[in-house]
Amino acid sequence: MSRLTSRKKHLSNLSVALIGFAAVAQLGACVSEGNDPGIEYAPNMYVSEAYEAFTQTGDMKYNPGGMTMRLPVPGTIARGQMDYARYTEGYEASVAWTNPVSPTEANLAEGEFLYQRYCSHCHGKDGKNDGAVIKNSEYPPPPWSGYQSEYVQTLPEGKIFHTVTFGKGLMGSHASVLTPEQRWKVIHFVKYLSNPDAFQIAPEALGTEGGNMGAENTGTADLGLQSKGLEGFEMASIDATVYAGLLTNMRNVQFEKVRMNKIKSESHSNLDAVAAYLLANPCNVVLAGHTARDLGMDAIQGEIALKRAQAVKEYLVSKGVPEASIKTKSYGSEHPLASNETEEGRELNRRVEIYFVK
Ligand code: HEC
Repeated sequence: MSRLTSRKKHLSNLSVALIGFAAVAQLGACVSEGNDPGIEYAPNMYVSEAYEAFTQTGDMKYNPGGMTMRLPVPGTIARGQMDYARYTEGYEASVAWTNPVSPTEANLAEGEFLYQRYCSHCHGKDGKNDGAVIKNSEYPPPPWSGYQSEYVQTLPEGKIFHTVTFGKGLMGSHASVLTPEQRWKVIHFVKYLSNPDAFQIAPEALGTEGGNMGAENTGTADLGLQSKGLEGFEMASIDATVYAGLLTNMRNVQFEKVRMNKIKSESHSNLDAVAAYLLANPCNVVLAGHTARDLGMDAIQGEIALKRAQAVKEYLVSKGVPEASIKTKSYGSEHPLASNETEEGRELNRRVEIYFVK
């Protein structure tokens, strides 16, 4: 027998052994039936070690059905699901539901945005029932010609809410894609499209604090939080006109866009004036950072606001103002000056203010 054939024989013995092993392993592994998954080699790949919200784990004996997550307390409504529980009566009864969302320009704009995303492919961008779905397919249009028809012009908003929420005829429910508040905003836009001339836009509610921004403020000075008081501080008295001037200086301090707590050099003169006042009239002050309301960014914004207040403090200290006389704080978006719905409003809300305390 040559060496070659004996090697071959060795090889074939080895492969027989391997096939045998694989077959045994196979038998053990793959017997999965019913609720038995068989042997899992790396169970972490299938079943997360961390609890998952909607899994049922046997040891959760206090939660219904062994669920990981508890059911909401009866009668509670999740944030944003405004009054959802109330809207359960039928289509006819929905006539009584009135639109709780103010028809401000910002709400109307959001309504339009949502409408173009969720409704226009059927109803058309102007509500003329000429969206691609209706124009280019066999999909039958609604029984009225468009939102400008008398039917939609006189259709109670509550009924529209019912239709958007629960669907009607060939139109499906949009409850899963629009929160109740968003639905009411879309409905403002539907009513706007159906009769733009008759639509009454409500004045934008300005932020409740502060108000006028100095430039056009010819009446009495607005002292904002200085006159309302700050929690945890006793306010010092200061001449209203002097304060208004200092506050305007502070509010107009600009920061860099990228290094967000770096004061722009053109704003130094604003702060020089504040420093000069503090040097001539030694007193204790709070420098407070305020932010705009940015969904999901509030925590970060609050931190940026504090860093900005600290940057202003550093600058004033560099001009000789005693460090111990200045405290810094962030109020986040609690005290807006203007609406957070527009970029201009948000720009006004991002600011550092000064308050005189004892
Ligand atoms: C898939 C196409 C489609 C989409 C998307 C759609 N609709 Fe409709 N819509 C219809 C049809 C069809 C009807 C007619 C239903 C009927 O009366 O049978 C209708 C009816 C309506 C009516 C009249 C309701 C009533 O009570 O008679 C309004 C108002 C309306 N839609 C608004 C909207 C809004 C707002 C959206 C977006 C949130 C939307 N629709 C999305 C197809 C659609």
